[in-house]
Amino acid sequence: MSENQKKTIFSGVQPSGKLTLGNYLGAIRNFPLLQEDYNCIYCVVDMHAITVRQEPAALRRATLEVLAQYIACGLDPDKSVLFIQSHVPAHAELAWVLNCFTMFGEASRMTQFKDKSAKHADNINVGLFTYPVLMAADILLYQTDLVPVGVDQSQHIEICRDIANRFNGRFPDTFTMPEGYYPKAGEGAKITSLADPASKMSKSDPNPNGYILLMDKPEDIMRKFKRAVTDSDTRIAMDPQNKPGVSNLIQIYALATGKTVAAVEDEFAGKGYGAFKPAAGEAVVELLRPIREKTEDLLRNKDYLEQVYQQGAQKASYLARRTLDKVYRKVGFVGR
Ligand code: TRP
Repeated sequence: MSENQKKTIFSGVQPSGKLTLGNYLGAIRNFPLLQEDYNCIYCVVDMHAITVRQEPAALRRATLEVLAQYIACGLDPDKSVLFIQSHVPAHAELAWVLNCFTMFGEASRMTQFKDKSAKHADNINVGLFTYPVLMAADILLYQTDLVPVGVDQSQHIEICRDIANRFNGRFPDTFTMPEGYYPKAGEGAKITSLADPASKMSKSDPNPNGYILLMDKPEDIMRKFKRAVTDSDTRIAMDPQNKPGVSNLIQIYALATGKTVAAVEDEFAGKGYGAFKPAAGEAVVELLRPIREKTEDLLRNKDYLEQVYQQGAQKASYLARRTLDKVYRKVGFVGR
């Protein structure tokens, strides 16, 4: 397939610096495979990040950390476009135009806006309100076909499509209509908290024993697995309804080792949690070790990272400009 016959994948990642095992097994693990068949563009969305207050030095560090972790997880800067949102001004520029094609009412209905306004009641800024419009600009600038995101982002994908439709209705053939690309069940989409199997593994869990970070040290990973909440009977068997805790661990162990669920059940038949939990911990330690080491290496090599994000911004700017020029012409701006 030639470059321009391939479909385009775009995804934005928040520079929180804290990617979890859940993010990895649910999505990032598949990214290196996708880059063979699609034009892949990954953007660290530092402009979205400042819709809530950030410590400047921490934001800068987290932005580079996410970039390093993506590369360590197997994204190849020569195959995929990896860049930082604020380096490509077309995102802010298209967002302005799209603001004028977004209705106040539809933006007010976004549940993430309502949630974040409740959580940051002292800072309900306009950026938080137009967050989905900037996200739509991210996506539409690259004539994106597919947007891999968690289901929590589906409303933002819908509003992006509504905005694109409205714009295309007035100015035909401007934007490709994007679709959300949600992880399928069985692809490790849903890894739950080790401390509370009823909720998703998340870095915002108040109990740090609930999540494993890609950068966690081996001893922390082992401790969290040994403490993982399981069930009253001691069988190692997949039964998400009645044994959600152990089922989550089985899925993690299977994904980390590449074994099937049935093989895992066989391996631990009659053995109990005392043997299984440390084995699951070990498997995750070994899965994450090369990623952590590579990330640490990259973060020590700032020159290389700089080269990656500069090259990424250059490629992204070229693609983004083409769309932005088209949009500016269509809405009636005088060409420079
Ligand atoms: N809102 C997304 C999140 O919180 C991040 C994001 C910003 C994004 N722009 C995007 C995701 C474009 C996909 C495409 O996860």
